[in-house]
Amino acid sequence: MTTAGIDAVEIRTGNLKLDLAETFAPVKDEDPAKYTKGLGLHASSFPDAYEDIVTMGANAAKRLMDRKGLTPEDIGRIDVATESAFDHSKPVSTYIAGCLEDVFEDDFHHANKGERKFACLAGTQAIDDAVNWVTSGKNRGRAALVIATDTALYERGDSGEATQGAGAVAMLIDEDPDLTVVEPLQGFGSADETDFLKPNQQFPSVDGKRSMQVYLARMREALRDLEEQRDLHPDDFAVVPFHIPFPGMVRKGAALGYRHISRGTDVEDALAEEIGPQPRPDDFEDDEAFRDALSEYTDDLTETDRYQEWYDLTVEPTLGISRYVGNWYTGSVHLARAAALRDARENGRDLDEQQMLVCSYGSGAQAEVHIETVQPGWEEEIAQLNVEEQLRERYDLSFTEYEQIHDVHNYDESTDIDAFTTPEEEFVFDGWGRMGERKYTYVE
Ligand code: HMG
Repeated sequence: MTTAGIDAVEIRTGNLKLDLAETFAPVKDEDPAKYTKGLGLHASSFPDAYEDIVTMGANAAKRLMDRKGLTPEDIGRIDVATESAFDHSKPVSTYIAGCLEDVFEDDFHHANKGERKFACLAGTQAIDDAVNWVTSGKNRGRAALVIATDTALYERGDSGEATQGAGAVAMLIDEDPDLTVVEPLQGFGSADETDFLKPNQQFPSVDGKRSMQVYLARMREALRDLEEQRDLHPDDFAVVPFHIPFPGMVRKGAALGYRHISRGTDVEDALAEEIGPQPRPDDFEDDEAFRDALSEYTDDLTETDRYQEWYDLTVEPTLGISRYVGNWYTGSVHLARAAALRDARENGRDLDEQQMLVCSYGSGAQAEVHIETVQPGWEEEIAQLNVEEQLRERYDLSFTEYEQIHDVHNYDESTDIDAFTTPEEEFVFDGWGRMGERKYTYVE
């Protein structure tokens, strides 16, 4: 059977940065540690006045195609995952393809283009669709481009303001991939929830605290669904990337995940000597007593050396980029994968043929857990990322400048301020067309 998965990845951050501890917390009269320690975030990325989901996505895709030596003829499918789309009919992938056609000789007229929506989960769903397309043979030898791109902005003063971010992750999905093979096993947890949504509005309506409970509840269902198909063990997975709305959320998700993958294994037995066995619902009179015991067990678990060693090795490295860019919605879990691979390469960790348990999530709400196998070409591929350079070069906003750029990207404000950075060798937003479409150009 044909194997398919992620052959290449590119990351493109917004060109601006808001320092949460130094710039945001003081104006909010809050302890900087709430951001750096509580939420686990140091900074957010923002789009400059000439950037948006199209420019960031097209810039990521162009760099990917350039360094892989690809032309539009090599790409048979372009799917964009986003929850920041500005057009209800024409998919963002057509805007991005249009940008790329301006700089490549050929066109993408042969390519199937679309847009995937399920909050932050859509990037993973688009990968799944592309993998199915490749393995079915419908690809006729061509690869797919999956681009997860978002400007994750909240209303000023909303509790989510601290977790904002903007950026794109472009991934090439192909046969015999260099980075990871996406294995067929998947677990799902899905329910009709109204904790985070954008009903015909730009900024989300969000019930922050409940959204965290819903994240954990759906993740639990997805893990259970996977457990029904295959036995799981903590040693099975070298890396466990989660969707990262903010790293503090992953701390909670990881404890839940570890409980599941260690349940009924020698690891649970070894831990039982220290903190007792995991509580099981049948041992309690009611649900509340069970939940209290579970919460106490989880607190004890996360204090054990065994858990902390597992977390430091398999989860902590996945957070290394997100801590400095915030939530990129559809791109976040894909940043987590890339961050872990980058960290492994820097620390000489051998991941060849090792497995990842990828835990994706989207509000509204659905979690998906699936398995990927790291391929021998991963080190060479991940070495091509220039994300450190991009993060270093971001313009550091003052609070007043942050207010201005937030207004620039707010559809309800009409603000005309100059960009803070000068675009160079990149696609930029270039004004409006006669039918209200956004227009783009490539700046040399
Ligand atoms: P908040 O109320 O401002 O923050 O909002 P808080 O007071 O709850 O503090 C956050 C953490 O910092 C807490 O840790 C505090 O204890 C700690 P916890 O108790 O939860 O472990 N803290 C400190 N730690 C050290 N020193 C201090 C200090 N002060 C406080 N001095 C909230 C937090 C997440 C609610 C808010 O940011 C929010 O509404 N965010 C948006 C929603 C969100 O991200 N939800 C996550 C799950 S839903 C999801 O992932 C989907 C999403 O990506 C969208 C999609 O799918 O499309 C959002």
